[in-house]
Amino acid sequence: MISIIVAVSDTNVIGHLNDIPWYLPRDLKNFKALTVGHTVLMGRKTFESIVARIGKPLPDRKNVVITRQAHFTVPTGVVVAASWEDAMQKTQNEDVFVCGGADIYTIALPFADRLILTRVHLQAEGDVVFPAFHVSDWKLVFEEQWFKDEENLVDATYQIYERRRG
Ligand SMILES: NC(=O)c1ccc[n+]([C@@H]2O[C@H](COP(=O)([O-])OP(=O)(O)OC[C@H]3O[C@@H](n4cnc5c(N)ncnc54)[C@H](OP(=O)(O)O)[C@@H]3O)[C@@H](O)[C@H]2O)c1
Repeated sequence: MISIIVAVSDTNVIGHLNDIPWYLPRDLKNFKALTVGHTVLMGRKTFESIVARIGKPLPDRKNVVITRQAHFTVPTGVVVAASWEDAMQKTQNEDVFVCGGADIYTIALPFADRLILTRVHLQAEGDVVFPAFHVSDWKLVFEEQWFKDEENLVDATYQIYERRRG
């Protein structure tokens, strides 16, 4: 199963200056709970932003990085893929979570079975946006309101969509 997992602002922004322009620990905890033990697939820029933030690849997950660079150096255990097709070959029969950024979401959208979306209710400005998609292709199967609190300073709506078949 291929799942896209993303947090997106009300302005469709997902990133700014190779980082995420909000801090929502609840979303990070949810991301971890869903992805640990599985495969996380990402573009080279997202991989570098994660390493810059936490000092290492995402732990306890198979990290797959897509890059066109022939000699991109990664820590032991991280898998490098030269294209989407190469990434799919290297993750056959795995639960794959596509975790950005915009380039990789754009490629993954036609192939994804599930869309896990945290709508962050913020008029964020940024330099990377989530690609347009047809809501009519997707069926909302779960929705939960996350109200702001002492730790999470912004309201959010957490949604899970499954692709409509047939
Ligand atoms: N809000 C969220 O949930 C979320 C999630 C993830 C990321 N983000 C944010 O998104 C931003 C990064 O996204 P981005 O779109 O700029 O970059 P990205 O998708 O993470 O990475 C882009 C890179 O992926 C490689 N690539 C892309 N298409 C490829 C293809 N068809 N074949 C081979 N390699 C390919 C290229 O690497 P090379 O240049 O090395 O060839 C390209 O420069 C950051 O601000 C990050 O914080 C937000």
